[in-house]
Amino acid sequence: MMSTTFIPLAKPDIQEQDIALVNEVLRSGMLVQGKYVGELETTFVRETGAAYASAVSNGTATLHLALVALGIKPGDEVIVPAFSYMATANVVELVGAKPVFVDIDLATFNIDVAKIESAITPQTKAIIPVHEFGLACDIEAIVNIANKHKLYVIEDAACALGAFYKGKHVGSFGDFGSFSLHPRKAISSGEGGVLITNNGQLDKMVKLLRNHGTDIIDGKMDFTAFGFNYRMTDFQAALVYSQMPRLQGGIRYKQELASIYFNEVTTNNVTLPHVPDYTTHTWQTFHILVDERIDRDALIVKFREKNIGVNYGAQCMPYMNSFQKKYKLHCETLFPNALKAYKQGLALPLYDLLTKEQTQYIANILNQLTA
Ligand SMILES: Cc1ncc(COP(=O)(O)O)c(C=O)c1O
Repeated sequence: MMSTTFIPLAKPDIQEQDIALVNEVLRSGMLVQGKYVGELETTFVRETGAAYASAVSNGTATLHLALVALGIKPGDEVIVPAFSYMATANVVELVGAKPVFVDIDLATFNIDVAKIESAITPQTKAIIPVHEFGLACDIEAIVNIANKHKLYVIEDAACALGAFYKGKHVGSFGDFGSFSLHPRKAISSGEGGVLITNNGQLDKMVKLLRNHGTDIIDGKMDFTAFGFNYRMTDFQAALVYSQMPRLQGGIRYKQELASIYFNEVTTNNVTLPHVPDYTTHTWQTFHILVDERIDRDALIVKFREKNIGVNYGAQCMPYMNSFQKKYKLHCETLFPNALKAYKQGLALPLYDLLTKEQTQYIANILNQLTA
């Protein structure tokens, strides 16, 4: 049996009230950073428990702003997991610093905390742990290491809005927490990102930097820092602000869908994701590992022939051309887990608009194709 309609890997749940709010902004003519950017920031403060939030143009800009605000510069090193979306390491290059890759734990796809300390050198200034696929990494242990070595922590929570670690929202442990609002995330503004912090001075710097350093001095507009245009438009802010009340309900529904995968995937040729005790999974991505005897790329094609959009989940960043050209790191020996996750990883559809029947169907197809 084949699904008659294509089941995409992800699809944002945009409802009529979201469109109505966007239309309200469009009709007002006030399109750039305005009322709804402020409302969205207030909502993020309430949702995450952080003291400050800044909405910006995307989740790469948030990370870039965090590094610039912390003064990370050429000659500095920043520790990043070897497995993530390229943005996590690209931003380190963008400020002229060096990303130092650390392998991941294959059970969680998050940074292997036991390998962080041996990567620290006198040049290390910060760690960017990623809460990969919406699962909190062991952030408490990472913050302890950072405090011991006087390092900054920028949590890359691009995929992890709504995720809690021991009852506290991710992103609020480090100096900064960074979220993406791309359409593959739990809620979406199209492109968009939010940066949270508990430090008022850092927040002020981020708000200056996102808007070319625009400031008021003696009642007059002036420019007090060299910044960017990383502003979010107000209709994007309205779009995602309107979805915020549905965030936790959406995560609960995705947890139900994930249980279907856990119960219905019976093939021995894949490894299902592991959820440690200290957290619950928000299932931004349901990421499995396919046995090495199975050609993962051919499997993706076979799924597409069955009208199902699956894909690989994230990159082994030092294995990609840009980083290979620059650092020539031997990933097979240095980052075997990240490489395996990149080569054998498979993201299955899991989102608010996916039905339970479709989830069951995908699980059955997976069983058939990997038998
Ligand atoms: C872990 C991680 N970091 C950063 C980003 C960048 O976010 P954006 O696409 O909003 O720039 C992403 C996007 O998917 C991501 O998955």
